[in-house]
Amino acid sequence: MTSLAQKLSGIVGDAFEAQGLDRAFGRVTVSDRADLAQFQCNGAMAASKAAKKNPREVAGGIVEILQKNTVFSKVEIAGPGFINLNVTDAFLAGHIQETGADDRAGVPDLGHNETVVLDYGGPNIAKAMHVGHLRAAIIGDAVRRIMKFAGYNTLGDVHMGDWGTHMGMLIYNYIARNETAVVENTDLSDQKSIDDLMEDMAERYPRSAAAAKEDKHLMELAQAATVKLQNKEEPYYSLWEKIRKVSVKGMEKNYTALGVHFDLWKGEADVHDYIAPMVDDLRAKNFAVESDGAWIVPVAQNDDKKEMPPLILYKRDGAVMYGTTDMATIVERVKLYNPAKMVYVVDQRQSLHFEQVFRAVRKGGIVRDDVELTHAGFGTMNGPDGKPFKTRAGGVMRLDDLITMAQERARARMDEAHVGEGMSADEKADIAHKVAIAAIKFADLQNARVADYVFDLDRLTSFEGKTGPYLLYQAVRIKSLLKKAEYDGKPPAFSLQDVDRPLALLLTELPDAVESALKNYAPHHLCEYAYRLAQGFSSFYGNCHILSETDVVLRNSRLALCALTNAQLELVLGLLGIQVPERM
Ligand code: ARG
Repeated sequence: MTSLAQKLSGIVGDAFEAQGLDRAFGRVTVSDRADLAQFQCNGAMAASKAAKKNPREVAGGIVEILQKNTVFSKVEIAGPGFINLNVTDAFLAGHIQETGADDRAGVPDLGHNETVVLDYGGPNIAKAMHVGHLRAAIIGDAVRRIMKFAGYNTLGDVHMGDWGTHMGMLIYNYIARNETAVVENTDLSDQKSIDDLMEDMAERYPRSAAAAKEDKHLMELAQAATVKLQNKEEPYYSLWEKIRKVSVKGMEKNYTALGVHFDLWKGEADVHDYIAPMVDDLRAKNFAVESDGAWIVPVAQNDDKKEMPPLILYKRDGAVMYGTTDMATIVERVKLYNPAKMVYVVDQRQSLHFEQVFRAVRKGGIVRDDVELTHAGFGTMNGPDGKPFKTRAGGVMRLDDLITMAQERARARMDEAHVGEGMSADEKADIAHKVAIAAIKFADLQNARVADYVFDLDRLTSFEGKTGPYLLYQAVRIKSLLKKAEYDGKPPAFSLQDVDRPLALLLTELPDAVESALKNYAPHHLCEYAYRLAQGFSSFYGNCHILSETDVVLRNSRLALCALTNAQLELVLGLLGIQVPERM
């Protein structure tokens, strides 16, 4: 199955080929002037050079062929050589009939058994998760869902930051102050005990980091502790293990609340044993060189337009760096999973880091040339003041606080709109949670990935406009309509009238939206589609009779359109990681 535009591209491509021209010129898209035509092909302009004719002449030859095809109800040349196309209602009805019968709503399963590793976590252990982790999780999880649906074997890895100087610094503080019992006595089966340690670390880490910044000797001790930890010396390592276990519990709680899934719960530390052999190999091949006591991989190229510093493998004191663990992680991923692609959904501000890492692993022959390495970077989430999002007091907003705030806001909005009246407290809380997460996710995902955006809780929880709650509301409305109609899901032949056609045409576009999202790691294409679909349904619903339609054929046809809209909307929201409540 394909989109209708793709199907037509095949037909128009044949016509170009019959004229001795490349069939790629026959690409058909949805018309950008819906008032003039349903579809258009601009290929005659591009083909005119190859054909050595003027564009209108080329278009004329194509149009003559297409006019004989009963698929089209209108074939016209417009302007300098655009070809405008309408299809017959019978052809359109046939296409959506097929789409409705397909359990993938017309989206092809690429079914290639390729593995993709996706990296979209990155929280550091011992620290509370904050809003900075939100975008990676939301976008990365959506990209994972989209790739999985397209047929990839996907592996999402949380890739915790658990091996850097921040750990040495924290553990050194516990040891130096004789307070290791705070960690050792933490009871992993007791939430209160876990929360207490998290609070202690949240307060202790910034304090020790600030002190080390002031005191060179203290900094050296913290760095020495990092090296000892990385050599797995005791008691550093045991303390670290405990801290990591406690931190994972906190992360799981946050990711579960967001509905974000990971297949792998690995961290930087897990690849430690790959580092020494990797560096040995890079040294043997002369890719790693010594510089001032440190070991580095030069990655600059002659045609670089900006400065490209070398990647540091080992610092002078022997500690490993961020780039080292990312390289070793690639070594491990290649060995364990042999992925065709590795995709990093990480803040755009880390683009230099990924450029260095990708160059270094390519240079070192750690990945095959045909393996794709992508940094799918994202922009900053700003507050209504246009600056990076903060709490009222100006601090970093914790992720769990943000989720609670959104739930409270969602609850207030529901009360205003009389949503959930007469429901049990549990069901209401469940709906408020779904509305809150839909609001947060849709507000984030609807932006082009690299763009910055303003996080405005008031706007994004509204039940009107381009928001998550609006989409949920429409989806629930269609569901309840189908329930009321006792629709049995067996579509008859579609019968299309003027009021039905716009929605029917829209329903043929889903495969193209999925393809764009997939190709560019860009979920916003699906947000756009979901919003247009919700709006398209809303006008359809307002313009025609459905339940009260007395013509049985027409009534069934309209119910079938509603059912297909519902199926596509739920599918798309699912790919975005947004859950639709049963009722609202
Ligand atoms: N822990 C890192 C940070 O806080 C993010 C990790 C992103 N993923 C990666 N493979 N480098 O900045």
